[in-house]
Amino acid sequence: MRILILNGPNLNLTGSRETSHYGHETFESYILQLFKLFPQAKIVFKQSNIEGELINILHAATHEFDGVVFNPAAYSHTSIALADAIRAINIPVVEVHMSNIFSREHYRKHSYTAEASLGTLAGFGMEGYRMAVDFLLRKSL
Ligand code: DQA
Repeated sequence: MRILILNGPNLNLTGSRETSHYGHETFESYILQLFKLFPQAKIVFKQSNIEGELINILHAATHEFDGVVFNPAAYSHTSIALADAIRAINIPVVEVHMSNIFSREHYRKHSYTAEASLGTLAGFGMEGYRMAVDFLLRKSL
């Protein structure tokens, strides 16, 4: 199974940014653990700070992957275009947020992209990505 892990804006700074919410580990270090945990999957990791680039990556993913684990970051709360892109592609998208967006500021409680996704994991730190990959692999059995 081919799985795309896609991160949105500011997540390239994970490890040094707002560590009380997102911890001290870099995503690059975490993704190496995921590669080892799931040797049976072809996992590819991409990140962009640009909304249109994320849309282009999702469009292309339909042809290249069987599922997407997507953390749209702040675009979750603002982007109808990203939600439409998720609806436009024919592969399952699982939304992940490291922090519990429901226990933070009111403007984080709603996610346009979560409405378009198969399901959402929030509040489990980086482990949410592992849980989402595990779900996609089991789903495909
Ligand atoms: C986040 C939550 C968002 O509200 C925030 O804008 C982020 C990270 C998370 O992973 O918890 O950048 O998506």
